Amino acid sequence: MNQFDIFSEDSPQFSLKEKRAADLRMLINSADHAYYVDAHPIMSDREYDALFKELESLELEHPELLMPDSPTQRVGGMPLKEFKQVAHKKPMLSLSNTYSEQEVLEFDERVTEGLDNSTHPYVCELKVDGVAISLIYRNGILDQAITRGDGEIGDEITANIKTIKELPLKIHHNPFGSPIEEMEVRGEVYMEDAAFLALNEQREVAGEKTFANPRNLTAGTLKQLHSKEVAKRPLKIVCYYLDANREETMMSHANNLFLLQKMGFPTSVHSKKVEHVQEVISFIKDWESNRETLPFGIDGIVVKVDSLPQQRILGNIARAPKWAIAFKYEALKAETILKDITYQVGRTGIVTPVAELNPVTLAGSMISRATLHNEDFIKNLDLRIGDTVLVEKGGDVIPKITGFNSSKRPDDAALFHFTNVCPCPLQTTLHHIEGEVQYVCLHPECPWQIRRRLEHFASRDAMNIDGLGEKVIDQFVEIGILHSISDIYRLHEHRDRILGLDRWGVKSVDNLLASIETSKQQPFRKVLFGLGIRHVGEGIAKTLANHFGTLQALQKASLDDLVSIKEIGSSIAQSIIEFFNDDHEMAMLESLSISGLCFEQSTQYQEQKSDEFAGITFVLTGELSLFTRKEATEEIEKRGGKVTGSVSKKTMFLIAGEHAGSKLKSAQELSIPILQEEDFAQVLQGEKKLTSFIGIT
Ligand code: IVH
Repeated sequence: MNQFDIFSEDSPQFSLKEKRAADLRMLINSADHAYYVDAHPIMSDREYDALFKELESLELEHPELLMPDSPTQRVGGMPLKEFKQVAHKKPMLSLSNTYSEQEVLEFDERVTEGLDNSTHPYVCELKVDGVAISLIYRNGILDQAITRGDGEIGDEITANIKTIKELPLKIHHNPFGSPIEEMEVRGEVYMEDAAFLALNEQREVAGEKTFANPRNLTAGTLKQLHSKEVAKRPLKIVCYYLDANREETMMSHANNLFLLQKMGFPTSVHSKKVEHVQEVISFIKDWESNRETLPFGIDGIVVKVDSLPQQRILGNIARAPKWAIAFKYEALKAETILKDITYQVGRTGIVTPVAELNPVTLAGSMISRATLHNEDFIKNLDLRIGDTVLVEKGGDVIPKITGFNSSKRPDDAALFHFTNVCPCPLQTTLHHIEGEVQYVCLHPECPWQIRRRLEHFASRDAMNIDGLGEKVIDQFVEIGILHSISDIYRLHEHRDRILGLDRWGVKSVDNLLASIETSKQQPFRKVLFGLGIRHVGEGIAKTLANHFGTLQALQKASLDDLVSIKEIGSSIAQSIIEFFNDDHEMAMLESLSISGLCFEQSTQYQEQKSDEFAGITFVLTGELSLFTRKEATEEIEKRGGKVTGSVSKKTMFLIAGEHAGSKLKSAQELSIPILQEEDFAQVLQGEKKLTSFIGIT
């Protein structure tokens, strides 16, 4: 029995439900903290999921119980049109960089001088390579998260930041004894190396742009307008600044870090208060050799004067404080022999050179291969086989070859010539696109390309065929039962053949065949993405599916039709046209269509008209930020509602944006229900009912 069953609908259970929702929020938030910050789970996944579901359904049933600190808000909500720009209360400064012990000593001399020789402890912190963020808590609840921007004005990305599980949405422990009306916390949002590598790999398989380093991936993620996408990426945060606008937070930085930790914020366990500059130097040296052991990248150490009154005396120059510096580490480097240069063929035929290295350990991992990108990259670095090359791992996690040691070049180091034939057994002559650096294999039956295309087609974000990964594809291509994408839907004809292969049993074959069958239900946009048309990533595939609705319509589109769509540039348009002009591709599409794949946007994804707002008149007022006026009107009209320009007795709801003026006043006078813009967005999402606003004026 559910605990609510004991209440009848009419009983005064509201406050009990309210209490239950508050308890659930508290329980789940504590469980998140225990799991993500303390690494000491206090409940099983099952218990956690049950509580989460209970809270979700409670909030759905009673939207008035949904609070901004609810953990259900961490999973992301409506996509935004754009981010709101918000001014920082105090500018977010940057740090002056130092690169040597000498420069650190000089910094200490300047500080000593500025403080008339008084003692001045420092706090040393790791400089995490991420994205700075300012968090504003109002009455204990996370209200706004703002990026650094230009230091003065940043973007408000609150919904994105709420997805970070470690971050308290509500402060449960107030160390000050009296309510904190407004408080600012600053910190660094980042991603651990392992999560970065895993995400990049997923993107690569899906044919999407990969990110150069965790910092770029973090920045790219935070810029997403759709917080649901952000929730899928494991962002982390470390907090290093507190201002609660009271005596206690104006004394010592180290004490502020302690207060942050007490309030439940993730802080670094490695921060250290030291008395003397020599200890600062030791801290820097210790971490220089230990930084490889951290699960995330640091690009240096931040040294801050601990006393806040002393910080105020020292002040700032231009955009940087005089009381702090960043010590930047050099990239980690190693030397090794370039044994050979081999090639990789991507799913669109691009041939990439790969350095085969004598295995070398760098930053704790063994490196034996590294991409050389293209012919120009090799020429510019003047690399030759046999050279002793320099491998570097900077903030980028992925090792890069940055040069060679000229004193170690053997006399017979072979000059490198980029291949002019595809490395696959067909050895097709490669095509060099005018003005581009890449060489491409254009053979439609190139087995190396086909493997990559098959992998992409079967990948999770495309057709999601479980069990059809790289190894299985290689195995099937090898024995000749898989030549092209359309063969996937004929694999059932080879059931006995597969059963006879190594590592296959009845259950695994039937699971694979079932998964292939299920994939026929994947929506059109996924099929389109899976086809692997050059430059058509997940987002573009969705745009095309929405715009054209059917494969037939897309196929008929001219270059002009395509480029007239906002997101489509000329190179994307060109490759779509080329795709449909290719006889092999057309034959493949024909065969896929016979197999029953979905080449039409189902109504589920199409814009639907409904009568949800039939007979309801709305007035819009104030500055809307989630929608334009036009979009809000369209959304209402799509649902059968009407929008009028002025408030009258006939107005049934007022939707109020920022700085609403006279219309808001008239609505209040007439007791017309008022929805904030976010409420309206939630109504459109089906998360709130319009009727729940009746009586709210
Ligand atoms: S303090 C004036 N502390 O480094 C104080 N910054 O180069 C400035 N960063 O924008 C910030 N770890 O993004 C501070 N422990 C740390 C930091 C840190 C990383 C970043 C931050 C800042 C940049 C300044």
